Amino acid sequence: MSTASLAPVLEIDQRAAAAVRAGLTSRPKRLPAWLFYDQAGSRLFETITELPEYYLTRTERGILAANAGEMVARAADGARLRITELGAGSADKTRLLLRAAVERQGTVLYEPVDVSASALDGAKQRIEREIAGVTVTPRAMDYTDGDGRRFDLGASDGGERRLVLYIGSSIGNFEPGEALRLVRRVRAGLETGDGLLLGVDLVKDEATLVAAYDDAAGVTAAFNRNVLIRLNRELDADFGAEAFAHRAVWNARESRMEMHLVSRIAQQVSAGALDLTVEFAAGETIHTENSYKYAPGQAEALLAEAGFRAEATWTDARGWFAVCLGRAE
Ligand code: AVJ
Repeated sequence: MSTASLAPVLEIDQRAAAAVRAGLTSRPKRLPAWLFYDQAGSRLFETITELPEYYLTRTERGILAANAGEMVARAADGARLRITELGAGSADKTRLLLRAAVERQGTVLYEPVDVSASALDGAKQRIEREIAGVTVTPRAMDYTDGDGRRFDLGASDGGERRLVLYIGSSIGNFEPGEALRLVRRVRAGLETGDGLLLGVDLVKDEATLVAAYDDAAGVTAAFNRNVLIRLNRELDADFGAEAFAHRAVWNARESRMEMHLVSRIAQQVSAGALDLTVEFAAGETIHTENSYKYAPGQAEALLAEAGFRAEATWTDARGWFAVCLGRAE
């Protein structure tokens, strides 16, 4: 076998490489949560959503299942709707809203927004096959890109109102200031009267929160460690993934769940593609994710600060998750 065929596939982009370098050379060490979602990580996340401890997905799905018709009617406010989603389709949850829109108006245009062209292709195939009346127009765009660039969806013609879905508690990965900037950017891309449906996970008892991020089957631990395996493959790094323990902690002061990877031993790790070697003390951590939990009323306040009128909030019987509709003012 030639040495060339043994070379790692260095497919990581410049932005990711820069973020890894910055994160592993800072103190405390950190990695951005969006790095989790390579192919294996996306599959692990899908498995997480089905775990008994991970209440988020099924709770939000229950809220949408019970209220999709009302949500769509409210957002439409007498007009026709087109549905834009940040992220390439949250599977069955998105379907509930698309079906409600088709029921109401016969057909609906669905615009998933994602950086990943392959995720968008997959969403288009899947959804057009499964729901008659839905036409999918993928929008390849990085909606998290805060470099002052406009989040430009283009006008929604034909007198349609846009309803933007930002569900799944994805906003939870953003610090409060970043979350506000993101929702403001969305507002700037909308017309007055358009809607934003925002799904947030709510503060609850610590044991429930911690279990959701440290499941008994160890899937979340594997999801967390998978980022190291990704760096090994894409940046020619030499992390021993098992040399890092998964840790999930509730940070009450910041109102967030945190995930960390804890070095079990003193060790040195290199990333060939970055020409970087980093030292770990035993017990030293890499902070890999923040997942903010909202207080009741907080999502509504965020919407208001970003230029939306908070029109309605739907929640579950336990008050664990909230879905809020904001109308662009
Ligand atoms: C996809 C960001 C909503 O924060 O709950 C799941 C990701 N991390 N388990 C979350 C995640 C650990 C998830 N979000």
